[in-house]
Amino acid sequence: MKILFTADLHLLRATQERTLLKIREWITRYRPDAFVVAGDLSSAQQAADTLKSLRRCFLHGPIAVCLGNHDFWMLGDSRSEPDSLSGIVDRYWLPAAASLDIVLLDAGNLHLQGITIVGGYGHYDLGFAVPGLAYDGILVTEEDYARGSPSASSALRWRDFQFMPCEHPLKEVAREQVEGLRQRMAAAADCRTLVVLHTPPFEELLGVPPLSLAQAGSGPSAYAFFRAYLGNRSMGVLLREAQANLVAVVCGHTHRRAGPLNLGRTIGINIGSDYGAPKGALFLSDSNRFERLLD
Ligand SMILES: [Fe+2]
Ligand SMILES: [Fe+2]
Repeated sequence: MKILFTADLHLLRATQERTLLKIREWITRYRPDAFVVAGDLSSAQQAADTLKSLRRCFLHGPIAVCLGNHDFWMLGDSRSEPDSLSGIVDRYWLPAAASLDIVLLDAGNLHLQGITIVGGYGHYDLGFAVPGLAYDGILVTEEDYARGSPSASSALRWRDFQFMPCEHPLKEVAREQVEGLRQRMAAAADCRTLVVLHTPPFEELLGVPPLSLAQAGSGPSAYAFFRAYLGNRSMGVLLREAQANLVAVVCGHTHRRAGPLNLGRTIGINIGSDYGAPKGALFLSDSNRFERLLD
């Protein structure tokens, strides 16, 4: 079994043709048995068009996607829009996925010969935040993280909070995501399982400089603040507990490549695509390894 993975396609008008062309090239060249995208496909209202475009790239093969933070973004007037992530899944992504025979991993597993793909969005639990981060002697607080900005006067913003439904506190959303994955992993029972998440569950998969560097120098960079939103550490705790039949973990979100690397008894990879510059990797289930694709 040969599975093609990618992530962070961000199929925006300006770059989507280039990105889709690359996917078609990969599929023609490598002839995968299945095609999986680890989130950040486009945005909520574009769900149907986006999934149609993916189906056109791989007309008859199994496709699975998990959602990314951008896939919950609602652009324009959102007064009548769902106020929860699950509301967006139900209104936009599930109907489109079902009509195109695409498995939405946030709602169910993809069963392939000898391996089950389990996944979901993931979110962030502030577990990768820089400890004791302070600007001009003032500690960044959890309220700052909840607002998405290091201080009331800063122009820097984590933009999810502007466009995603934020009915629940972010740690609660992160916990719900862990619980959802736990249930879908339980449904996979003893099958060999490959987990696909948008947000990294392990520090090693963030693909950003280690904390020691983030803290070095004259003072923390503005970007040190955004480390808090890079992944869900409690998801990693779940995966470490479940390692017996977990063969690999694939993620995206940070737009920085990491791995493939050994994480105990499992392998991890962060795909590392960026806007208009998709990256891909093939998983070869017979030999249990990833091969990154050439650009
Ligand atoms: Fe992304
Ligand atoms: Fe993302």
